[in-house]
Amino acid sequence: MCGIVGAIAERDVTHILLEGLKRLEYRGYDSAGMAVVSSTSGIERIRSLGKVKELENLLNDENFTGSTGIAHTRWATHGKPSEQNAHPHVCNERVALVHNGTIENHEQLRANQENQFKFTSETDTEVIVHQVCSYLDSGKSLFEAVLAASKDLVGAYALGVVSRDNPDILLAACYGSPLVIGVGVGEYFIASDISALIPVTQQYIVLEDGDIAEITRQSLQIIDKDGKTVDRPIKISELSVESIGRGKYKHYMLKEIYEQPSSISQTLEGRIHNNLLIEETFGINAAEIFDKVKNVQIIACGTSYHAGLIAKYWFESIAGIRCNVEVASEFRYRDPVVIEDSLIVTISQSGETSDTIAALNEAKRLGFGKSLAVCNVPESSLVRNSDLVLMTRAGPEIGVASTKAFTTQLVALMQLVLVIGRRYKVTDSIESEILGHLKSLPRVLEEVLKLDSEIEALAEDFNDKHHALFLGRGSQYPVAMEGALKLKEISYIHAEAYPAGELKHGPLALVDESMPVIAVAPNNELMGKLKTNLHEVKARGGVLYVFADESMLIESEDNMKVIPIIAVHNSIAPIVYTVPLQLLSYYVARLKGTDIDQPRNLAKSVTVE
Ligand code: G6P
Repeated sequence: MCGIVGAIAERDVTHILLEGLKRLEYRGYDSAGMAVVSSTSGIERIRSLGKVKELENLLNDENFTGSTGIAHTRWATHGKPSEQNAHPHVCNERVALVHNGTIENHEQLRANQENQFKFTSETDTEVIVHQVCSYLDSGKSLFEAVLAASKDLVGAYALGVVSRDNPDILLAACYGSPLVIGVGVGEYFIASDISALIPVTQQYIVLEDGDIAEITRQSLQIIDKDGKTVDRPIKISELSVESIGRGKYKHYMLKEIYEQPSSISQTLEGRIHNNLLIEETFGINAAEIFDKVKNVQIIACGTSYHAGLIAKYWFESIAGIRCNVEVASEFRYRDPVVIEDSLIVTISQSGETSDTIAALNEAKRLGFGKSLAVCNVPESSLVRNSDLVLMTRAGPEIGVASTKAFTTQLVALMQLVLVIGRRYKVTDSIESEILGHLKSLPRVLEEVLKLDSEIEALAEDFNDKHHALFLGRGSQYPVAMEGALKLKEISYIHAEAYPAGELKHGPLALVDESMPVIAVAPNNELMGKLKTNLHEVKARGGVLYVFADESMLIESEDNMKVIPIIAVHNSIAPIVYTVPLQLLSYYVARLKGTDIDQPRNLAKSVTVE
């Protein structure tokens, strides 16, 4: 999704802006742009379709410099990817503006503005810059103009604004789309995500919905939605330049796959005492909230939704409490029957997914009950809007295709299952046994990662394939779904997942030698039935790839390759079997030469509806 960077300093900021944009590339984008302002040259702007590298070439060619500026990576929502639609948008060479979010009343505003201003793009953003301009024309200051314009907007926005007449001011505003201010010495920065600013500062302020900030080199004034001057706390980011680098790995995705043992250790760190979970780590009032919970309502999108589907199996079978899971974009627009005293559990890597935030608000409004966010970003909107928080502590995830965020979500969710389950079926001995299995995960996953070269070789079989089928049963069905999602996201091979029992109700018709079938087969009570399903595939000439518990001693044979997986307890099997599927997708995509970390058309954090 779109990314914003801005800076005001004594020095040239163009390379800071460029570096910031590169750090936001992971969010997904199709074009980029930058504007600087000075008292001598007014507003200057460069924009390019495609990668930030193209913008960098322009920057070098044009000797483009300035000490106040804004920059943007755009992910098209209104209007196709093009240079004309790229931000910053400019009005009458007087104001330049970058915007994240979507403006719902842009058509109406455009209709009002068309007599007065010439439109040069198809974006919803352009109405904002014209609105600011028209207020400037009426004699308002830049601050007043941005404030007045923001009141005319319906929708979500994070804005960075500069003006020809005030080259020593950078304006920032946000509502429903995150924006932070980086604090330097005699300089300030803005960004949609603190990771963009890490090379220049680790100190930052999170703007709240409705805030507008007027920033000069030496001063910062923030006005909240009620017009009051407010002091927002300065925070220190724990991110380091190293933690958001690619290290020795060819892609972030591979680095993040390999980080899973240590990320999972972090998820468990400090939460267990005497082989039992410390309930207070879920929040000071967690026990009181958990005591009332009669139902769990999970809401999430994408990979996080798959984590929720697995958690449903756990909540019902291990904890003995009812659990519903729903894709956030569906939940927010239907009329669900309200189950009071539910715990609304949102799952999100970024904590900024617009549908998940809206669905949470809707569930609260309907009266489902208290909320808990399972999230990877401490300062995110979701975290701020939830009663309880369970951080996954995966560390920054840059690859668009989620890997370590997913497995750490599962580890966090299992902890939640156990503490809520204490009020139902979970005894101390069940809890400590499952915690023992969770604690074994870093070691187990190190073993699974040793399959790397075997899976890389296996990937060759998929290079010429156009479709693939993933099968699983029970809590391994969502693992199959996640495997299929990974393959389609980064290799662009069409992949579907089915619960193996559904095979003969349709997908079997597709099975032939050109349709690889991948099955995840841990050693559980459903194994006998899964074996029957695998025979059904073989009998139709299908080629099988089976990731199977090594203790079952299943041998490879004609048209069936078996990849033995270290034997583990059923409770952690979904986490363990996810990893080889991640590696498979990664290596298939690598053979296909796709843009693995930034797959086409996708965004890391979907901050628009
Ligand atoms: C996008 C990403 C996915 C992610 C989903 C939900 O589609 O590409 O990797 O699973 O959003 O994101 P969240 O941050 O809420 O987990």
